[in-house]
Amino acid sequence: MSRESKQADLVIRNARLIDGTGAPGQRGGLAIRDDRIVALGDLNGWTGARDVDASGHVLSPGFIDVHTHDDRALIANPTMDCKVSQGVTTVVAGNCGVSLAPLAIDRRPPAPIDLISEDPRGFFADFADYLDHLDEEPPATNVLAQVGHSSLRIGAMDDLERPATAGEVATMRRLLEQSLEAGAIGLSTGLFYPPAKAAPTEEVIELAKALHQAKALHTTHMRDEADQVIDSLEETFRVGREAQIPVVISHHKCAGQRNHGRSCDTLKLIDENRAHQHIGLDAYPYVAGSTMLDSSLLEDASKVIVTWSVPHPEAAGRDLQEIAADWGIDMEEAVARLTPAGGVFFMMDEADVQRILAYPHTMIGSDGLPHDTQPHPRLWGTFPRVLGHYCRDLQLFSLEEAVRKMTGLPASEFGLTDRGRLAVGAAADLVLFDPDEVIDAATFEAPKTPARGILEVWVNGRSVWRDGGTTGARPGRALRLHSLSLPSHA
Ligand code: ZN
Ligand code: CU
Repeated sequence: MSRESKQADLVIRNARLIDGTGAPGQRGGLAIRDDRIVALGDLNGWTGARDVDASGHVLSPGFIDVHTHDDRALIANPTMDCKVSQGVTTVVAGNCGVSLAPLAIDRRPPAPIDLISEDPRGFFADFADYLDHLDEEPPATNVLAQVGHSSLRIGAMDDLERPATAGEVATMRRLLEQSLEAGAIGLSTGLFYPPAKAAPTEEVIELAKALHQAKALHTTHMRDEADQVIDSLEETFRVGREAQIPVVISHHKCAGQRNHGRSCDTLKLIDENRAHQHIGLDAYPYVAGSTMLDSSLLEDASKVIVTWSVPHPEAAGRDLQEIAADWGIDMEEAVARLTPAGGVFFMMDEADVQRILAYPHTMIGSDGLPHDTQPHPRLWGTFPRVLGHYCRDLQLFSLEEAVRKMTGLPASEFGLTDRGRLAVGAAADLVLFDPDEVIDAATFEAPKTPARGILEVWVNGRSVWRDGGTTGARPGRALRLHSLSLPSHA
């Protein structure tokens, strides 16, 4: 059969095509051959080995989850049900300073690194080996992987509670450069967390200079998302300016009741600085966050649910206040007894969440924690919740805009030139969903519940989720930095 013939592996007809650019949806069809989109719009004359009638349904690019901690889930649970069930076809791993590589360690890693692996054997000393492993045992989704600053610190320093010495910075920078060479897309920091708290801005800038040279990017879980959120934004902008690199503010929020409403100021500041430098941001659609159980977060939270605990596994899913009451101790002491542990923290204001989600430059990132016993429902619910709850039910933005925040926008922020939009020649990463039905079903009580209304999902032309279950296919690819075209470094 000639490549010019109108024979496709799959044709999808009569869909509402939402292309990821924000342009109004159009009725039409799409054809796939191998891993590419080969026809779009009018499918006159095209036939497919499989022919799908998508009347009443939306066909859009597969969603890009820009903020994940899927580093080891990609290996341990390669069908990635929690993500493909939402229509996610590409994940960005290695966030918040936490990555599986490059790190050689012979003991249980300190929190929050233990969120991705409690077992030191789960880590990769060499970033190239991590990516090669993903090539050999591919997951269902595509992956972009970052180096975590905290992982670098743990590998290079004997004492994390001080700034790195010049020699340690040089060691970290060499490891970072090797990783970028191997295909890491950038460096994430988690300056809020114990392993990186003592790192001064200058330490990050020194490392970030390697990002400029390699044309990579920087994402950050900022030092403070509560009272000092403005200072933290300024610190992030400074890193971007001095190293001349694009920065992405992870899971932007204003935590703690005293700070509710401050997203008016933070978004204004981001907007002003976007005039001079490249700044991106992401958010998840919930008023509760989730991370390691840390008593420094208690004062900002109105309620805490334990998500896992090593000494008290039975505590997972329980309210921290009730546990403390049962034990006849205060919450801080309960945290100390439960640790190592994780928690869900209710600490945001719904109006801030909506304002941040609606901001035109905000991408969607789940920040799901795939190894938690009782995870935050964002792991299974983020994308359908934006589509069903915030877009359809609350009408916070149009469906085209919701899809753009999950596809075209993150594709351009992360330099994916042939994904994140419907176009002839683009990779066939697709999601077919019912716009009237799509909704998250994961709750804080039953967090591992697949969403409704996601009908079928394709990665690189192959169906990975269909009729409410995984197909078992694992066509994902570990995408390397050199294949990307990141935003300008000017
Ligand atoms: Zn984070
Ligand atoms: Cu995170």
